[in-house]
Amino acid sequence: SIPEYVKIVEVGPRDGLQNEKDTVPTTVKIELIKMLASSGLPVVEATSFVSPKWVPQLADAKDVMEAIRDFQGARFPVLTPNLKGFEAAVAAGAKEVAVFASASEGFSKSNINCSIEDSLVRFHEVALSASKLSIPVRGYISCVVGCPVEGMVSPSKVAYVAKKLCDMGCYEISLGDTIGVGTPGTIISMLEAVIDVVPLEKLAVHFHDTYGQALSNILASLQMGISTVDSSVSGLGGCPYAKGASGNVATEDVVYMLNGLGVKTNVDLQKIMLAGNFICKHLGRPSGSKTAIALTKI
Ligand code: HMG
Ligand code: MG
Repeated sequence: SIPEYVKIVEVGPRDGLQNEKDTVPTTVKIELIKMLASSGLPVVEATSFVSPKWVPQLADAKDVMEAIRDFQGARFPVLTPNLKGFEAAVAAGAKEVAVFASASEGFSKSNINCSIEDSLVRFHEVALSASKLSIPVRGYISCVVGCPVEGMVSPSKVAYVAKKLCDMGCYEISLGDTIGVGTPGTIISMLEAVIDVVPLEKLAVHFHDTYGQALSNILASLQMGISTVDSSVSGLGGCPYAKGASGNVATEDVVYMLNGLGVKTNVDLQKIMLAGNFICKHLGRPSGSKTAIALTKI
């Protein structure tokens, strides 16, 4: 059986845009976030308070956050890799943050320039400061099945990091197949290892669609009882530190599948498509969502 309701966490404005070469104007980002929030999505990850040298596209994090801080209808978490980012995020009005670890050493080094253990120390600092302000912290884990540097990643490594993030107080752990190499064949054993150490209701899945496996992986995850799914409008995305990683699974495709399964999301597919159309027009490229393309032709 699968959950009756699935919470979709929209990551387009952050994961979707972070890898875009040409700077997207701040006003366009704000309009995109507004359109996504008004489509019924409960959570729209807005931006990242990371080093602008590492991710130039999100150098306007402060301006984006200040513009959307009082929007109603959705929560707007932001990525914070350390205390510096956390403090800047809170000053700009963020009410929810996310830290991001890796299950592989190689990717930890290339993405956040430190070892897994050092990153957990930083995240613990962020979690302590956040708890004083009653700010919820989400924890991401990248490379949950494969790593661009190290190849296969063992489920026990994912479970180890998941338990650490859970113990430091993360209310939700998002398991990211950063390079999209997983299939239900590898995802299920990874999830089994994590479910052994972290309560099922705290888990989310985050699939990139590099090999076209994302929807199958989501269905397998739902069948294991997971009810939070990350996705990106029009399938935008890719990680700047994961070469070859394609976009996230498209929100439109996830909503279409969930509608077909009779699973509630409260998301209005037509409105998501308008947001997708808006950002794709701006970027000058076709949608990465098969559902959006199909429904636009009808
Ligand atoms: P570092 O160079 O090791 O940091 O970067 P540092 O502490 O030595 O500081 C170097 C400089 O960065 C200093 O500035 C700091 O002030 C500044 P300088 O003195 O040279 O002018 N700095 C900051 N500036 C703004 N905000 C901050 C911040 N911290 C330091 N928070 C750091 C370490 C973590 C900052 C860097 O590696 C970084 O920003 N990495 C971010 C990488 C990133 O955003 N990756 C994409 C997100 S993760 C992802 O996409 C995967 C996910 O979607 C799940 C999945 O798909 O698997 C979540
Ligand atoms: Mg991602």
